[in-house]
Amino acid sequence: MTDRYAVVGNPIAHSKSPLIHAEFARQTNQDMTYEAILAPLDGFAKTIEQLKRTGYKGCNVTVPFKFEAFLCATSKSERAEIAKAVNTLKFEGDEIYGDNTDGIGLVADIERNLHVPMSGKSILLVGMGGAAWGVLSPILRQSPKRFILSNRTVAKAVDAARILSSLGQDTEIAAKSFEELKGEHFDIVINATSSGLNDEMPPLPSGLFSEGSLAYDMMYGRITPFMAFSEKEGASKISDGLGMLVEQAAEAFSVWRGIRPETKPVIEKLRK
Ligand code: ATR
Repeated sequence: MTDRYAVVGNPIAHSKSPLIHAEFARQTNQDMTYEAILAPLDGFAKTIEQLKRTGYKGCNVTVPFKFEAFLCATSKSERAEIAKAVNTLKFEGDEIYGDNTDGIGLVADIERNLHVPMSGKSILLVGMGGAAWGVLSPILRQSPKRFILSNRTVAKAVDAARILSSLGQDTEIAAKSFEELKGEHFDIVINATSSGLNDEMPPLPSGLFSEGSLAYDMMYGRITPFMAFSEKEGASKISDGLGMLVEQAAEAFSVWRGIRPETKPVIEKLRK
């Protein structure tokens, strides 16, 4: 029997996940379907219950339900526990396994596709909303030399830095205001704020980019003000988040199917 999967969100019509998973399924000969499902804003848990009852094997979860998905899961991966958010659910009998593949997707895009290793590097993460929380522990697990968290509301970065520090690694971890970034230099600067949605960017100081540095915006589909700023500031490599989108999907696919599809042809297809 064909296995059924879906992505659940609100809104959901714009989602590229059905296309991506259809490509993965075709490529790996998996007998499965994957559709987009709109859940009412006050009806996420009910929607999940219904999917489970009607025999779905799992689903992806997107905005604004990643925290509710975390609460629905009966067991979770470590990265989901730290993110306090889940983007992948796997239904196993009465159990619901929750994972968060956003961070590992970001790491895969930066290291494998953009050929920028994170180990030993100085990394700045800007923004401390849901998108940023999802990538914290996977970045730390790559053992950067420094991992600096910066956010308009600094208290959120301070909280995140405290939690990361308790994971006990050699990386120097600190929270800073945008103002305090003056005079600092980084090998990788990641914009995880939602500012690009409004054609804005965080007020970052000039001079952040070291030689050979990467500027990465987790948004995709257009050149954001952060990407334009990074180019003017002399970042060597500039990327949007399309690769991350495909890589997080590949990780979710492998959680469900035990096989990791090729991402490169799918990224190329979406770019076109
Ligand atoms: P998401 O799920 O996309 O992360 P979110 O949880 O609403 O969305 O978080 C949005 C993030 O973008 C926050 O870190 C927010 O900063 P605050 O915590 O200070 O609100 C940040 N953000 C949004 N617009 C911004 C802007 N114009 N300048 C700087 N930061 C911005």
